[in-house]
Amino acid sequence: MASLIHVKGKRMSVLDPGAGIGILTAAFCERLLNLREKVQLRITAYENDTALLPHLRRVLRKCEAALQERGHDVTLDVLEDDFIVKNATFFKRETPFLWEDERPAFDYIISNPPYYKLTAASRHGRMMRELGLGQPNAYAFFMALSLPLLKPDGEMVFITPRSFCSGLYYKKFRSWLLEHAAFSRIHVFGSRSEVFEHDGVLQENVILRTTPKNEKRKVAPVKITISENHSFKDLKTHIVPAEDMVHRMNGDALIKIPTSRIHLLIQHAIKDWRYTLHDFGLEVSTGPIVDFRAKDFLTDFVDERTTSPLIWMHNIQDMKVIWPAKKNGKQTAVLLKEASKPLLLPVRNYVLIKRFSSKEQKRRLYAGALLENDFKFKVIGIENHVNYLYRKQGRMAVEEVMGIAALLNSSMVDEYFRCLNGNTQVNASDLRALPLPSLEVIRQVGRRVNAEQPRIGLSLDTVVANALGISNRIVRELHEEDGRD
Ligand SMILES: C[S@@+](CC[C@H](N)C(=O)[O-])C[C@H]1O[C@@H](n2cnc3c(N)ncnc32)[C@H](O)[C@@H]1O
Repeated sequence: MASLIHVKGKRMSVLDPGAGIGILTAAFCERLLNLREKVQLRITAYENDTALLPHLRRVLRKCEAALQERGHDVTLDVLEDDFIVKNATFFKRETPFLWEDERPAFDYIISNPPYYKLTAASRHGRMMRELGLGQPNAYAFFMALSLPLLKPDGEMVFITPRSFCSGLYYKKFRSWLLEHAAFSRIHVFGSRSEVFEHDGVLQENVILRTTPKNEKRKVAPVKITISENHSFKDLKTHIVPAEDMVHRMNGDALIKIPTSRIHLLIQHAIKDWRYTLHDFGLEVSTGPIVDFRAKDFLTDFVDERTTSPLIWMHNIQDMKVIWPAKKNGKQTAVLLKEASKPLLLPVRNYVLIKRFSSKEQKRRLYAGALLENDFKFKVIGIENHVNYLYRKQGRMAVEEVMGIAALLNSSMVDEYFRCLNGNTQVNASDLRALPLPSLEVIRQVGRRVNAEQPRIGLSLDTVVANALGISNRIVRELHEEDGRD
């Protein structure tokens, strides 16, 4: 992170909000040690955990001593303050950069901010909401309050989860960030587990370097690097036009991080997809059956009159819904009782989508078509790890179900989904935001898939690509590049 900063000039100031024991600032100072030119450095570090402060002071004093020994001049400001409370008053949503006013301005900001949810009732949550940024997570608040503290040509480097790039919670923050920050460098960690784990949820993490947006400055392409983990051994680099990183749709702007050339090709191929599920009267919901809450109704006894099928993630196989299918002793049916009725759905045509994929699985999207004609039951139970997609008023046609299931199972849409979304979960809101071609094209895909019954992988991708007018070259490259399943 320290190496990403463009060190320039003789006088410089660096801010480390949420400094911990100061390792990021120490890394930055280490860089300066090798400068031939003597610099004047002002370090400002915020830390509100009193237990850490003595260590922070000790680390920064060592940095100071080492730099002074080489003839540099260092001033230390270790602030035992709440960074949010101290800086929220400076924040002006519409005009965040008022360089002439009384607030401090920094050349560089380097941060590994705290990560915790901001609840509506909490002081920080209230503050962020009042500033018009929503109330997503402390790390986003740290980013929002830091950016306006930069000088016009200053740089900030943050390491954060990738969650701000998509998702409803971050919508207001994201739109503010895209309006006022220019991204100049992004590093993505491929492995979710090895770098950080937050709240038990494995998330991809990113290192982001941004500068204040300046209408007069040309928007430069963004350098994206990817490494599996923090050894940075297998670093891959891509240069991406800044406009390829934003997907605007229905008043929201999502940040896409294309991590390969093939991502870019796919993005260009589907950039004209202007529709979402909502445009077709379709909705996504999460399966209502939570096994431990419904345990009194779950059974292995299957009988048309007294039970209904229960669909779990493992029932979604190769674009179909295979039932019954046993796995890990999970029960196959739900007893039809007065109390279980509200948990069951009428058997209709649905697309079922797994909500979770494991780290080892290559694809993120797994969808199966549940077709009314294949089920002799009247009602069905859908377990909570499965999302189901349906028409709110009226019913989905078979070709619509097949078309959407085929698109979601195709490598092209899966890759696109991954540019938008960094975690292993597939939330209903992510599916609602996914761009789609027109319903007529979806039906056409469905008809072809129905007729040809291709297997997921190269065969399905070829059928889908042909129906969509996507070049076969992209499909071939996709399969050559990473030997997909
Ligand atoms: C994820 S840690 C990172 C520490 C350090 N930068 C590092 O990389 O090792 C975040 C730090 O922010 C501090 N912190 C949390 N909320 C804060 C606040 N409101 N103001 C200042 N510091 C805060 C925590 O005590 C913690 O030390």
